[in-house]
Amino acid sequence: MDFTGRDFLKILDFSEDELRYMLATAKKFKQLKKEGRNHKYFPDKNIVIVFEKTSTRTRCSFEVAGYDLGMGVTYLDPTGSQMGHKESIADTARVLSRFYDGIEYRGFDQKIVEDLAKYADVPVWNGLTDQCHPTQVLADFMTLEEHFGSLKGLTLAFVGDARNNVANSLMAMSAKMGVNYIACGPKELRPSDEVIAQCLPIAEKNGCTITVTDDLKELDGKVDAIYADVWLSMGEDKEKWGQRIELLRPYQVDMNLMRRMKPTTVFLHALPSFHDLNTSVARDVYEKFGLNEMEVTNEVFESEHSIVFDEAENRMHTIKAVMFLTLYKREEK
Ligand code: CP
Ligand code: NVA
Repeated sequence: MDFTGRDFLKILDFSEDELRYMLATAKKFKQLKKEGRNHKYFPDKNIVIVFEKTSTRTRCSFEVAGYDLGMGVTYLDPTGSQMGHKESIADTARVLSRFYDGIEYRGFDQKIVEDLAKYADVPVWNGLTDQCHPTQVLADFMTLEEHFGSLKGLTLAFVGDARNNVANSLMAMSAKMGVNYIACGPKELRPSDEVIAQCLPIAEKNGCTITVTDDLKELDGKVDAIYADVWLSMGEDKEKWGQRIELLRPYQVDMNLMRRMKPTTVFLHALPSFHDLNTSVARDVYEKFGLNEMEVTNEVFESEHSIVFDEAENRMHTIKAVMFLTLYKREEK
């Protein structure tokens, strides 16, 4: 299996075996880290991480993973580079490739990260776009595998804005990993026909199902993991909060819903999450719409079902695996 020099732009670009290998590599790195064993394989490399949207987990994962691998890391914040304003994506990609051994990008349209990859001659890693969040779902599946021992036969349900970046990548990863996937949300926010058409044949080949529904009852008793994400993603018009709340309020993940699942059902969330009023955005929403919890109640978030902090930790191990695999043989050459 050769990952050398490859980009990591979306889940569908990788085979089932390649994705499994990434998860296995992440597991090894997690062990090395827990044992405190040095893994500074790339003391001569440098990477740049470009963020056109804000981030805690993804930024810190790339930084810590980069340092753990012995690399230098440059962070460019949403206002800190010429990219897009004064310099084209193509020119930025060619300049950054002369300085760095790898480029992470978080931003808006998927086409931007695809263009960066087209013009860069070093690996480009997608740290979230409007359409995909591939490093997130690697961590999600690593967490599920750790928790359940195996992914085989599991059913994952995404509840909420089922056509957002995280949901799109979860459908693709579920199809690749043979995990049954249920996208549950209002009809207005159902996954696009294009995404479904790409994933369905893969799911069929791997013996799992993809279900799209607006009926929460379809989850009853058969779901191993419930996944929620914010109701309004970064980059979406804030004016949409009212409409989104209206559509998604019935899909809030609460204890009544969790009780209808299995006793062993876990709760996942990409984070950050609006489960209380301890953020300025949540307080604004509360003042305007009177809602003190959104996609998940605080009770579920803090319950024994919730494995969201294991999931957050695994962002770092999986991102390290992606960087290591795509950079590794360059070192040997
Ligand atoms: N889940 C995730 O991508 O978090 P950040 O926005 O903090 O990076
Ligand atoms: N769907 C969310 C994911 C954040 C990690 C967003 O794009 O804001």
